[in-house]
Amino acid sequence: PRCIWLTRHGESLDNKLGKIGGDAPLSARGKKYGACLARFIKQQRIEQDEIRRRAAEQREAGSSSSQQCERTVAVWTSMLRRTKETVEEFDPIEYDIKEMRLLNEIYAGICEELTYAQIRERYPEEFQERKINKLFYRYPGMGGESYLDVIQRLNPLIIELERMSSDMVIVTHRVVMRILLGYMLDIDRAKMPEMEVPLHTLYCVEPKPHGTVVKRYRWVE
Ligand code: F6P
Repeated sequence: PRCIWLTRHGESLDNKLGKIGGDAPLSARGKKYGACLARFIKQQRIEQDEIRRRAAEQREAGSSSSQQCERTVAVWTSMLRRTKETVEEFDPIEYDIKEMRLLNEIYAGICEELTYAQIRERYPEEFQERKINKLFYRYPGMGGESYLDVIQRLNPLIIELERMSSDMVIVTHRVVMRILLGYMLDIDRAKMPEMEVPLHTLYCVEPKPHGTVVKRYRWVE
């Protein structure tokens, strides 16, 4: 079956400080997660290839060796440093790495690079409004987005994702993860803003005829 690997980027320097948005590089821990992710997915692919090869051999005895070729797997990241750095250890020969603006994190306008405590202090009304209706709330300032805006911007990407039939890896951010996972698991959009999607956790989503199966792998240091 097809597997869509989904993860947030490794821990960034801003994650350590509790700041939202921005374009910070990875922390040392975040880089370690990236390296571990590359090794883990490679291992999973080898195992999957082996299972597929055996199944093909069983179907037609003496099947041609061309079926054993390793396929190139698409890896999509956002345009932000923290996702690009997370895939630095993926071999560019085995993976087709593509950076997409559509996968960027929600843009928080005037709240970019602030902590939640700073937002509450500087913009108490905004803080309260978002708390009341996180799905609809749009951050003020040029380019500020809401969850609904991000859902809309992800529409073409979801169509593309469904069109493809091969395995792939998506490395993105908290809000985008909630929306993509929520969509694939058929979760009500009103519940998406509160979904648990921790850092350093990899999801393997397998669309199957009787419903989507999700496996979750947590990186243990
Ligand atoms: O803190 C990481 C982060 O990805 C921010 O960049 C983003 O604004 C936030 O999480 C989104 O989470 P929430 O919608 O719960 O504020």
